[in-house]
Amino acid sequence: MEHQQIIFSNDIPGSLETVLKGLDFNKVVIITDVNAHQFAFPKIADSPVMKGIPCIVIKSGDTCKTIETATTVWKQLEAEGATRRTVVINMGGGVVTDLGGFAASVFKRGLRFINVPTTLLGAVDAAIGGKTGVNFNGLKNEIGVFNEACAVVVSTLFFDTLPPTELKSGYAEMLKHGLLSDRSYFANLLNHEILTDDREQLLGLLERSVIIKRDIVAADPHEQGLRRALNLGHTAGHAFESLAMKRMEPVPHGYAVAWGLVVELILSHMIYKFPSDILHMVAAFVRDNYGTFAITCDDYDTLIALMRHDKKSIGGEINCSLLADIGNVKLGTVVSSDDIKAALDIYRDLLQ
Ligand code: GLY
Repeated sequence: MEHQQIIFSNDIPGSLETVLKGLDFNKVVIITDVNAHQFAFPKIADSPVMKGIPCIVIKSGDTCKTIETATTVWKQLEAEGATRRTVVINMGGGVVTDLGGFAASVFKRGLRFINVPTTLLGAVDAAIGGKTGVNFNGLKNEIGVFNEACAVVVSTLFFDTLPPTELKSGYAEMLKHGLLSDRSYFANLLNHEILTDDREQLLGLLERSVIIKRDIVAADPHEQGLRRALNLGHTAGHAFESLAMKRMEPVPHGYAVAWGLVVELILSHMIYKFPSDILHMVAAFVRDNYGTFAITCDDYDTLIALMRHDKKSIGGEINCSLLADIGNVKLGTVVSSDDIKAALDIYRDLLQ
């Protein structure tokens, strides 16, 4: 499959103008959320290309990523007179690009859309690769379609509007991409100070991270094989995220992924001899930047049950993407509950 068009630029209006020039369209509509509309949109609102473009503003937050919100978007697209030749610009974090991409993909059987991610997590993950959808019936991303944006404009322009937790959350997905690629990029990621080092350096790291994801998606757009590598850290990470929700103390997605990466690198070491020096470096970086998700052995059975219910588990078996080394991925490894208990013991030794 062809690579998705990705433009790295802090000149968002100029980039949008270039993309739109290549499209035959009669109208443009922006979908954004309350946060992005308040903090990010003003940075580009005054440019001539944005003038007169209607904005559909949805509520912020993952709990609003619902079919009901999509319905309000469809009503407003109708009201704006959107036709099949209309182009949608999704401007926001993962909720906006997931929901806006889905709403556009099925409206009149499909409008084209451009993603302008405003968060680091959105730029390195959600906006790239064509996964669109909404949560349904208590399940994340249960309804959706694979459909790639005709272009994604990646920038660091909006990052000074983000709280530190949001930047760190996105950075965890970059660490994952680093582990899936090569040692030198991964070393650069560990040497970068997320909150203090300059944005030029971050832009360079971000570009590399986006390209790693883009290439994996191009090789396996519908997640039949290699794309499952992108689940590294997410089997344990989703279990931590769900346990945090049960405790009524939600944690940012990327923090759960960071803790999940530590658990899954421990499993990688146990099963595939993943180098222990890298495991210890990652654990130290995660402890310093993300703290720890505190658990006791009383939580093990709940965490294991949550992992069994993960979308990726097949026939009740827990399935993980693990690593034999940086860049050497072992897809679909079945992991026993004894292995997980042993890994959680070591996780507590390393992080607590
Ligand atoms: N977030 C993982 C993927 O896009 O496949």
